[in-house]
Amino acid sequence: MAASTRAFVLRHTRLRPVPGLEEIRLQLADEVLPLWRAVELETNDPDPALPYWAFAWAGGLAICRYLRDHREIAAGRRVFDLASGSGLCAIAALNAGAAEATGADIDAFAAAAIDLNARANGCRLAVVRRDVLDEGPPDVDLILAGDCWYEASLAARVLPWLRRARDRGIDVLVGDPGRRYLPVDELVELASYQVRTTTELEDLELKQGRVYSLRPAVENT
Ligand SMILES: C[S@@+](CC[C@H](N)C(=O)[O-])C[C@H]1O[C@@H](n2cnc3c(N)ncnc32)[C@H](O)[C@@H]1O
Repeated sequence: MAASTRAFVLRHTRLRPVPGLEEIRLQLADEVLPLWRAVELETNDPDPALPYWAFAWAGGLAICRYLRDHREIAAGRRVFDLASGSGLCAIAALNAGAAEATGADIDAFAAAAIDLNARANGCRLAVVRRDVLDEGPPDVDLILAGDCWYEASLAARVLPWLRRARDRGIDVLVGDPGRRYLPVDELVELASYQVRTTTELEDLELKQGRVYSLRPAVENT
């Protein structure tokens, strides 16, 4: 990982507890637009991805609350955090006793943030930066997908990938505050939490984040 990417994350964020999950500390930003502009300047990319990695998103926050309430789902298991952003869900899985965890995100700054955040929380976390949606699901026991349904093109790739994981016997947890492309017909709600985010990202500071499993495949008879 480029030292400059790590330095950028450290320069533009501050390590602090996650609201409602004070046992986890992340490198977080206060404002999205100035940071987005800084990414544009740093990368020379006129249209860079939003700096998702500098925030804890409502869907991920809900998954973390669920893992804290139901440690048995992660304890002793191999966990893969898809669209990891800051690494939030992977860190929560390790806190719940996961045997190992991987954070996967295509954004170079996210990869740096995941690594920095894991270290700040005393965790060992593997980081994957390639686009795993082009591959088969990984050899793990549990996949976490926090806040992945905000864009049609991403949602259209995530759903079949998660279905394949489920069909291989991997447990899947989806966390989401009701984004536009959430495939509700394919999901079974497990829990709902009021989570604190920021009006930098959302219309309201308190959002209802729901946690789902994937509905079992319909058996052909
Ligand atoms: C809204 S953020 C959610 C981050 C984190 N799960 C949370 O809840 O705080 C979505 C993340 O998905 C990542 N992403 C987008 N496309 C991806 C892909 N094909 N594979 C992995 N991550 C991807 C983005 O870079 C971003 O960090």
